[in-house]
Amino acid sequence: MRMSVIGTGYLGAVHAVCMAHLGHDVVAYDTDASKIDMLSAGSSPFYEPGFDELLGTVLATGRLRFTKSPVEAVSGATVHFVCVGTPQLPGSDAADVQYVDGAFRMVAENADCDGLIVGKSTVPVGTAQRLAAELATSPLGLELAWNPEFLREGKAIEDTLRPDRLVFGVTSEHAEKTLQEVYGPIIDAGTPHLTSDLATSELVKVAANAFLATKISFINAMAEVCDLVDADVVTLSRALGYDDRIGARFLNAGLGFGGGCLPKDIRAFSARAGELGASHALRFLHEVDKINIRQREKAVEVARAAVGGEFLGKSIAVLGAAFKPNSDDVRDSPALNVAAAMHLKGADVRVHDPKAIENARARFPTLGYFDSAEAACRNADLIVLATEWEEYCTIDPVAFRSVVREPRLLDTRNAIDRQYWSDAGWQMFGLGRGGPKA
Ligand code: UDX
Repeated sequence: MRMSVIGTGYLGAVHAVCMAHLGHDVVAYDTDASKIDMLSAGSSPFYEPGFDELLGTVLATGRLRFTKSPVEAVSGATVHFVCVGTPQLPGSDAADVQYVDGAFRMVAENADCDGLIVGKSTVPVGTAQRLAAELATSPLGLELAWNPEFLREGKAIEDTLRPDRLVFGVTSEHAEKTLQEVYGPIIDAGTPHLTSDLATSELVKVAANAFLATKISFINAMAEVCDLVDADVVTLSRALGYDDRIGARFLNAGLGFGGGCLPKDIRAFSARAGELGASHALRFLHEVDKINIRQREKAVEVARAAVGGEFLGKSIAVLGAAFKPNSDDVRDSPALNVAAAMHLKGADVRVHDPKAIENARARFPTLGYFDSAEAACRNADLIVLATEWEEYCTIDPVAFRSVVREPRLLDTRNAIDRQYWSDAGWQMFGLGRGGPKA
């Protein structure tokens, strides 16, 4: 099937590569010429495990091309996927849908045959209906569908090729059949697929992200209580997780959620509920957001207590800058937020990350960056483990004692074996593990 993919950010690039992998003939378009040049040359503008290899394979088949030309992308295609971003509007909680609107118009203006325009971007509910009404005036037979994307960074290829479910928001049987054809191999592999109206399909995505964010903030609220009564949130979380009704996933207490999706999506969802006259229904998401931000502030407080109550003159190593492991994404990264806050309060902050240093430096140029964890930790008064990369979780605490000035570790992700490090002579600090003990 000949298709276009509009937008080659994280979502669009992965989607284009995976569609070509499934056998479709794909032309992907972006207004950012540098991205198109990189992708055409087979290199990725971001770090995603498995992406470069799959990109190389599908480019070699000739089934995937990247272009800066709207006409080249759209003409001849019968399915168009809109994969552009919906960032938070400056000065507001609402989502900025100008890029989605622009992409739909671009397709409508350049299409030369009937086809289906499929929105994948995360949008305020009601956007699809509005765009469908606009498309109805197009002289060509262009129809709209919504097919939300649930991919996680770090697992994007797996999530696209073997998703938990597919959701098709459609207004006709033809649109449903087209999407079934697009995803044929994935459906044949047994993936559940649901068909709905447009609004429900838009809501599935924001509701899923709201639920995940709520689950994380729930356990972080429990962490706050644990600190007050010297209880242990890690054991609490494990005990809760064994209950099938609750489940263990997304129940890791710590520095909380960041990245380009969860924080902005819960704010945009609340803002949309307000526009719909139902702000009361989603008021709890404001609390979810506040709990999340408090964890970052709490981490800074615990770090301050750990180094004796004063940051000035103290050297602090921050391990991790990405918002989560296996990603180089530093958008709204809790790790960098904590690093920057400690730096502002006078600490000498030394950051390491296996993949995100360049992105971090571009955002916070005044922090110190090092190309190994050991270099960052040299003579540190405290190590703050802020992103749970595997390489940090396997550090040998005995060997590492001679690297630092003071053997103190604040594990904000509850990712390492506390007892093991304690036995090796380290003073351990955490969130939800019984409060600052310095
Ligand atoms: C999220 C959704 O999971 C995905 O379905 C959607 O399409 C996009 O947004 P992503 O932003 O890649 O994906 O990250 P995710 O794996 O969901 O993690 C989000 C944040 O929550 C990270 O900062 C992570 O460290 C944090 N987190 C996750 C916790 O603090 N505790 C947990 O138990 C799980």
